[in-house]
Amino acid sequence: MSLIIKNGNIVTATDNYIADIFIEAETIVAIGKNLAMKADKVIDATGKLIFPGGIDPHVHLSMPFMGTYSSDTYETGTRAALYGGTTMLIDFILQKQGNSLHDALAEWQSRSNDNCVGDYSFHMAVTDFNENTRKEIKDFIEREGITSFKTFMAYKGALMIDDRQMVGLMEEVKKHGGLINVHATNGDMIDYLVQKNKEEGNLAPLYHYLSQPEVTEAEASERFVDMINYTGCPGYIVHLTCEGALNAVRNATKRNQKVFVETCIQYLLLDASLYEKNFEGAKWVMSPPLREKKDQATLWAGINQGLVNVVATDHCPFMWEQKLMGKDDFSKIPNGHPAVENRMELLYSEGVAKNKITLNKYVEVACTNPAKIFGMFPRKGTIAIGSDADIVIFDPNEKHTISVNTHHMNVDYSGYEGWELTGKVKTVILRGTIAIDNNECLIDKGFGKFIKRNKVAQTI
Ligand code: URP
Ligand code: ZN
Ligand code: ZN
Repeated sequence: MSLIIKNGNIVTATDNYIADIFIEAETIVAIGKNLAMKADKVIDATGKLIFPGGIDPHVHLSMPFMGTYSSDTYETGTRAALYGGTTMLIDFILQKQGNSLHDALAEWQSRSNDNCVGDYSFHMAVTDFNENTRKEIKDFIEREGITSFKTFMAYKGALMIDDRQMVGLMEEVKKHGGLINVHATNGDMIDYLVQKNKEEGNLAPLYHYLSQPEVTEAEASERFVDMINYTGCPGYIVHLTCEGALNAVRNATKRNQKVFVETCIQYLLLDASLYEKNFEGAKWVMSPPLREKKDQATLWAGINQGLVNVVATDHCPFMWEQKLMGKDDFSKIPNGHPAVENRMELLYSEGVAKNKITLNKYVEVACTNPAKIFGMFPRKGTIAIGSDADIVIFDPNEKHTISVNTHHMNVDYSGYEGWELTGKVKTVILRGTIAIDNNECLIDKGFGKFIKRNKVAQTI
């Protein structure tokens, strides 16, 4: 099967030009003006932007968490992502404390195997680092193609590890060429503030926010940055939200350190005033919580300064009925928010169309940097000869409105209900096959492949 996309405006992290793309089977084999090859199918992309398939490196599908499961399955989550122009997801395996990493891998594979519509990979979250776990790291990196290891400095009593385990894990991961991801907030301090608020009868969603002040994230980010500086292990801070945390990274650059940083679309666009809506605020109960307008400004600037490298989602949806588990106690509201379908269109509309970031920066943070940092470039994350033909054809002018009534995520509300956007995903191609066309999904579960990743995080 061959396919030619004609006359689109091809945008990569560095270039922007009008040309044709010729695809054979799963791969881009030629790019040029007025290509003469005959293809089985021709798409006229005149007036459209052509992006590499989006990569969201932070999602939680069918994840057991806070006494329930996130509501998107591997099928519904990867399909919804495709509708929004994201062709590849990286999900998180959670080790059960006391069990092995391989046990957790088998459990996650039992839910994901043959069920994904789009491509996917896993980070391995290490919640119990000990001598047995240490021995498993090499195999994950060298055999499983899972080269990034997630750590939690928060969720005390559930997922959190201490600094002793953190440093030990960093040394082992560095030895084998992997990368450490971190949820960087001070779990002890948050635990204290949650208990204090509950004892004082402060039980509304607002107190979720007030129990995780900026200092909890700034302190942990600085501690993490110091530990990766000491061990020399490559490090990536997930869902960074605020000025204090970004300043910890900024300070690290002054001693010539490179720290990879991800923020999420919600921290760029939404703020903590949403927690003042009584229990409706539960829609945005996530960790870390939404912050202030000044933090949004810091994050947009951080993208343009090259300090924030990736815009992800931390997609972790829960049905409203699940959110109601915390109706009388904010600490029981399952943490997480749905966004995987909306990320590319929101970032275009609010970022590119409003002149906050350039088109090239858009591709860099939504497609290319995730592929580079997580060992998939140039197979994924760009439009180049030899790359997988993961391609988004995008109408930069079409206007549309986000709504629960039209989204494809398995969740019964939207955190962006009624938002009017400029720019819409029209066609999505995954490894040479048309996956989405005019709001219809043309591929089935099982089409999505597990992508084994390479060792080294590239310099970006
Ligand atoms: O609220 C969140 N972020 N839920 C998912 C788990 C995590 O911390 O990433
Ligand atoms: Zn987290
Ligand atoms: Zn997460």
